[in-house]
Amino acid sequence: MRHESELSPAEGRARGSAESLDATRARARRLGAGFLALVAATFGLIVLGALVRAHGAGLACPDWPLCFGELVPRFDFHIAFEWGHRAVAGTLSLAFAALSFLTLREPALRERVGAWVWAAVAILALQVVLGGLTVLHLLAAWTVTSHLVTGNAFAATLLCIALRLRALARGDVAPAEATPPALRALVAAGGVLLVLQLVLGGLVSSQYAGLACPDWPSCADGVFFPSLDGVMGLQIAHRMNGYALAATLLATAFAARGAPALARLTALAATAVLLQIALGVANVWLRVPVEITALHSAGAAALVLLQTACLDVAFRSALPAPSLSRNAGAAAARAGG
Ligand code: HEM
Repeated sequence: MRHESELSPAEGRARGSAESLDATRARARRLGAGFLALVAATFGLIVLGALVRAHGAGLACPDWPLCFGELVPRFDFHIAFEWGHRAVAGTLSLAFAALSFLTLREPALRERVGAWVWAAVAILALQVVLGGLTVLHLLAAWTVTSHLVTGNAFAATLLCIALRLRALARGDVAPAEATPPALRALVAAGGVLLVLQLVLGGLVSSQYAGLACPDWPSCADGVFFPSLDGVMGLQIAHRMNGYALAATLLATAFAARGAPALARLTALAATAVLLQIALGVANVWLRVPVEITALHSAGAAALVLLQTACLDVAFRSALPAPSLSRNAGAAAARAGG
């Protein structure tokens, strides 16, 4: 390679631009990996949160943000669970703050994912407040449910950031083929039904409606719809919306067979929803044991991540490519005076 001093000004700018582009891509790759690790940690935190609830440890620390007025209280099994959930959440928040700072200070990355990072900041702030309200309102159904939905929304937003950074690192800012509108509509419908299912699931568990219908496939004594009121109505709504979600995700996987970017992801989501229904049935048949409840919550969080990835592929292809090269060129021109 020729030395810098041997290049014409135009060649020097072109080389500077290429090097700046390479550096941006390398940073996008590293930060993308960091955000993916954060997605995995958030998934673990959601399952830990479900375990806290299933063990009846949600009020083991009766105050918030401290626990018995102390930063590190004296532990028993339940306190260790609830305090551990808070400690992991705090550590994760610090890691998120560091990754966000590193991402936002780079103009090309800020242009690509800045809005998503700020959305995640807002969701995390809301989640911290909801976590506190869950304790202060003694596990009221609305706080438990909002905490569950917001936690999953945070994981989904982190995944969007990671996927966009990784796409930027690869240089393929938009998937090769555009998703047909009908397939896009199916993916969106799956997303809407999944959010509704999370809300219903959160209400079922926080209102102790898990065994309101003690049988499956019927609700009780061979009757499918004995009453649509109260906790029984809630349990029936959770089941019915679950079936509608499964039908939608199966139809999506069928429709996406010929779409290379979506075929595998939608097939995975369809498989996951069938497993999730099996876990829901096991929850009823085995009388809501802690292990199955935790797996059912993990299944829901996994479905959220899979559906988010499907939405990302289906809708990112509709967006124009960002002006990474323009930024890199401007940076190189600035550096070169
Ligand atoms: C199809 C997808 C489904 C999804 C995404 C889903 C999701 C959820 C979620 C997020 C919760 C709350 C977990 C928590 O608070 O930690 C829940 C609770 C529950 N779900 Fe589902 N669910 C699905 C299908 C079903 C089905 C078909 C059944 C029954 C046949 C079922 C039975 C239950 C029961 C019994 C609970 C209460 C568990 C408890 O009280 O701890 N689920 N579900």
